[in-house]
Amino acid sequence: MNNILKIENLTKTYKSAGNTLTVLNNINFSVEEGSTFSIVGPSGSGKTTLLGLCAGLDRSTSGLVELNQIRLDNLSEDERAQIRNQYVGFIFQNFQLLPTLTALENVMVPLELRGEKNTRTRSMDLLDKVGLANRSHHYPAQLSGGEQQRVSLARAFSNDPKILFADEPTGNLDAETSEKMVKLLFDLNRENGTTLILVTHDMELASKTQRIIRIKGGNLISDERTVAI
Ligand SMILES: Nc1ncnc2c1ncn2[C@@H]1O[C@H](COP(=O)(O)OP(=O)(O)OP(=O)(O)O)[C@@H](O)[C@H]1O
Ligand SMILES: [Mg+2]
Repeated sequence: MNNILKIENLTKTYKSAGNTLTVLNNINFSVEEGSTFSIVGPSGSGKTTLLGLCAGLDRSTSGLVELNQIRLDNLSEDERAQIRNQYVGFIFQNFQLLPTLTALENVMVPLELRGEKNTRTRSMDLLDKVGLANRSHHYPAQLSGGEQQRVSLARAFSNDPKILFADEPTGNLDAETSEKMVKLLFDLNRENGTTLILVTHDMELASKTQRIIRIKGGNLISDERTVAI
């Protein structure tokens, strides 16, 4: 099995007021292509930081990140943006929708960037899948938190990513909507072979993935395979 993601000796530090804060400390793991994977750990343990580094949104202080056999840590911001648009879907913990675009336009962005056709129709289909066809012309500020999260999910699906990162994808959803979104994520894995990497506080969701790593205080403290199919 190929590894779609390889992380070696990954460290991230921030400097502030003369002090160095180590947010991630020498992390190592690889993720098999087509698998499902969760990252769990307490608030502030470094999960979002780790996800951002894996997806090439941010750069490590030291260590290697290889996505789809491409080393990200040597690339410029523009080069990483290109790789992300080609291979990566990302559902942000805080959604990161563009405030001046409607829900529909937000979902269209990755498709437009790739110069694809029928972007409007395809994006409407995706909004329909997340139950938001009737909110397509709303701006993010006119949507509830859970609705914004679902737009973020539709956008992450739109470029048919090889690897999908989701940071607390059900954090703002009620039980029923959450179940529907989780089904969409796992269907994408099963039907398209999309590798799924989730950050979650929900152990029931984590246990549906094939592997769980636990981060505490910036250290990887466990790495276990589950009995998930
Ligand atoms: N730009 C930054 N500058 C300084 N410290 C930062 C920065 N970004 C994150 N941190 C610190 O890094 C630590 C890890 O943050 P991160 O957002 O990765 O945590 P998390 O595990 O995702 O938490 P949560 O479960 O609350 O979302 C936190 O203590 C945070 O304050
Ligand atoms: Mg976080």
